[in-house]
Amino acid sequence: MRLLVTGSSGLIGRQLCLEASRMGYEVYAAEHKTDIEVGIPVKLDLLNVPSIESAYEESRPEVVIHAAALTDVDLCEKEPELAFRMNSNATAQIALQAKRNRAFLIYISTDYVFDGTKGMYKETDEAKPINVYGLSKLKGEEFVKEFADEWCIVRLSTPYGIHNKRRTFPEYVIEKLTKGEKLRVAYDQFTSPTYVPNFCRMLLEVAERGIQDIIHLSGSVRASRLDVAIKVAELLNLDRTLIEPTLLSELKLIAKRPKDSSLDVSKALQILKEKPMTLDAGLNAFIQNFYRLKAGDNIT
Ligand SMILES: NC(=O)c1ccc[n+]([C@@H]2O[C@H](COP(=O)([O-])OP(=O)(O)OC[C@H]3O[C@@H](n4cnc5c(N)ncnc54)[C@H](OP(=O)(O)O)[C@@H]3O)[C@@H](O)[C@H]2O)c1
Repeated sequence: MRLLVTGSSGLIGRQLCLEASRMGYEVYAAEHKTDIEVGIPVKLDLLNVPSIESAYEESRPEVVIHAAALTDVDLCEKEPELAFRMNSNATAQIALQAKRNRAFLIYISTDYVFDGTKGMYKETDEAKPINVYGLSKLKGEEFVKEFADEWCIVRLSTPYGIHNKRRTFPEYVIEKLTKGEKLRVAYDQFTSPTYVPNFCRMLLEVAERGIQDIIHLSGSVRASRLDVAIKVAELLNLDRTLIEPTLLSELKLIAKRPKDSSLDVSKALQILKEKPMTLDAGLNAFIQNFYRLKAGDNIT
């Protein structure tokens, strides 16, 4: 299968290219500012329409996984015009080109399309974002439905994994606790923490089987950051008294966060062979990989 991945240097895209290459896919990795490590590089800038067209021409993809985005939630709030250009308008162009090239488009969206008043959201629940990032991603979803012929919208929540340039939350917790430093962690925001390799394998199954519509692909357990931090401390036998529970409002973030944007993954559990992992299983796999990497082994 010829696969074009946008955002291929990012937390999700990089792992996705690794998994897809390992599975024997012909992977075209869209390259923006950061050099690509896996796959055949093709230049693509979300803010430059001709570059989107030529990336399709060069790769002639059967499947496109659109993972590039402006993912900094606070930056989106400060620069809404840029957020809508990157997350909404560029997605419209990606979708138009998918239709023109008869490619199956998978768009990675977010739990932040929900307002967070209810939690455990199903695919059929109404999306009602409360910040610019969520709004811009929801607009992206709408453009995918409007312009692509064959599409799937995959919603993801709080990914964690190993990345050479980006440190995700469990790694931050390990670093702080092993140094004996205190850390303040919110206990009043709930999501569905997702182990990136598990997400990528579910995503590739969606691609391979041509599953269409909307599907929530996240971890199967609703948890707060505090729950995750405590679990990491328990699994590694580190001092959990260094973890200071705090209110989200005390962290003085710029954009509002949904209080409970956890996702119901019954549909994925029912139809996929690769099942959403529990928090325990995901963190265990993360920790094993983290220490193997430190010992000099390759990431899996
Ligand atoms: N991270 C989360 O918490 C989260 C949660 C739910 C859903 N999601 C969604 O999951 C997807 C992947 O997120 P992620 O965390 O992997 O993102 P990320 O690590 O922030 O990576 C963003 C990617 O987008 C690329 N990019 C940025 N500006 C670009 C441009 N103008 N043209 C082309 N590419 C550009 C970056 O490449 P360069 O570095 O080369 O610029 C990078 O590869 C996104 O759609 C995001 O909305 C993320």
